[in-house]
Amino acid sequence: MKDLFDGFYRGKRVLVTGHTGFKGSWLSIWLHELGAEVIGVGLDPLTERDNYTLSGIGNRIEADLRADIRDPDAMKRIFTAWRPEIVFHLAAQPIVRLSYAIPVETYQTNVMGTVHVLEAIRATDSVRVAVMITTDKCYENLELPRGYKEEDPFGGYDPYSSSKAACEIAIQSWRRSYFNPEEYGVKHHVSLASVRAGNVIGGGDWSKDRIIPDCIRALEAGRPVEIRSPKSIRPWQHVLEPLSGYLLLARNMWERPAAFCEGWNFGPVENAVSTVWDVASALIACFGKGSLKDVSQAGGVHEAGMLLLDITKAATRLGWQPRLDVAGSVALTADWYKRYATENVYDLCVSQIEAYSREGAWK
Ligand SMILES: NC(=O)c1ccc[n+]([C@@H]2O[C@H](COP(=O)([O-])OP(=O)(O)OC[C@H]3O[C@@H](n4cnc5c(N)ncnc54)[C@H](O)[C@@H]3O)[C@@H](O)[C@H]2O)c1
Repeated sequence: MKDLFDGFYRGKRVLVTGHTGFKGSWLSIWLHELGAEVIGVGLDPLTERDNYTLSGIGNRIEADLRADIRDPDAMKRIFTAWRPEIVFHLAAQPIVRLSYAIPVETYQTNVMGTVHVLEAIRATDSVRVAVMITTDKCYENLELPRGYKEEDPFGGYDPYSSSKAACEIAIQSWRRSYFNPEEYGVKHHVSLASVRAGNVIGGGDWSKDRIIPDCIRALEAGRPVEIRSPKSIRPWQHVLEPLSGYLLLARNMWERPAAFCEGWNFGPVENAVSTVWDVASALIACFGKGSLKDVSQAGGVHEAGMLLLDITKAATRLGWQPRLDVAGSVALTADWYKRYATENVYDLCVSQIEAYSREGAWK
C-alpha cells in the first residue's frame, strides 16, 4: 500500500479511544497497515456486524482494551501501562437524537470522558501528540450559507452538539493551562489539537438514526427508507477523508509541536454538501433497488437544517485536500455494504484504503 505519511507511523505507539466504533475501527486498520503499534481503548461493539468485529482488527493490534472513559483511574492506569506516543481520542456518545434521551450520559461520556483522557495524558510523560476528535456541530449553528471557520464561536442546540462544544472549551483550557505552546519543551512536551469533521459515511456503521445504516437496514428488509429530515443539508464525507486529515495533522504536530496545536476543520469538497434525501437517493441508486419515503413531520426534535465547514485552513497550512466528491463517497460506502457479507472484511477495508491512497501524498 502507498504510505501517504512517508513511513512516519512505522513503530509509533498510538492509542486510539473508540477503536471498537465506526471511525475508530477504520483508523485502527489504517494505522496497523502503516506499521503503528495500536493500543485500542473502547467499550464492546454494539452489533456483530460492526466494522470492528467483522474486520477482526482487535486480534491484529498491540492491545485491544475494554475500559470506560468515564473512569478517570482506568484511563490513567492504561496510559501509564502502555505509554503511548500519539493519542487519537474518538470515544464518545455521538448520536444527536440519542443525546435528547440520555443527556446526562452524553455529557458524562463526551465532556468528562475527554477531561479524563486529558488528565491521563498529563499523568504520563510518553505522549507527544494528542488529536481530540469533536465535530462540525461544536459551532454555534446560525444556519449560515457559508462554512464555519475554526475561529467561529462554539455553541450547540442539542445535548450532543453542546457537549462537543464543551469538549472544545475543555481542550482549549488544558492547552492554555498545561500544554501551552509557548512553554513547549520547558514545562511539557505535548502538542494538543482538536479536529472537526462533517457527516461521515462509510462501511461498517450500523448506528441508529444515521442515514446510511438506516438505508441499508431498510434495503435488507425490503422496505422503503424513511427519511426524517429530507431537506437538511450536511457536509458528507467518506470516513477515509477526515481520518487522512487527522493522520496528516498528527505527523505535522510531531515534527513542529508548537505550530499546529489548535482547532482544525476537515470537511468535504464543496460539492459534497447536499441534502439527506439526495445522499439516500444516491445510495439506493448504487444498489439498483429500494425507495425513499418522506416521514418529516412538524414537532420532531430539533436537528440543524444547514451545516457547512470551511476547510481553507487545512488546505493552506497542511496542504490537505479531500479527494472524493459526494458520488465517490457514496459509491465507496455502497461497495462495502454490497461485499461485507461474502468477503474478508479486513481485506475489503484495506483495499478501500489502498484505492484511496493510490494518488499518493498531498502536494
Ligand atoms: N460519524 C460521524 O458522522 C461523526 C461526525 C463528526 C464527529 N464524529 C465524532 O467521531 C468520533 C467517533 O464517532 P463514530 O461515528 O465512530 O462513533 P461510534 O458510536 O461508532 O463509536 C464510538 C466509540 O466510542 C466508544 N465509547 C462510547 N462510550 C464510551 C465510554 N464511556 N468509554 C469508552 N469508550 C466509549 C464506543 O465503544 C465506540 O468505540 C466521536 O467522537 C464522534 O463524536 C463522528
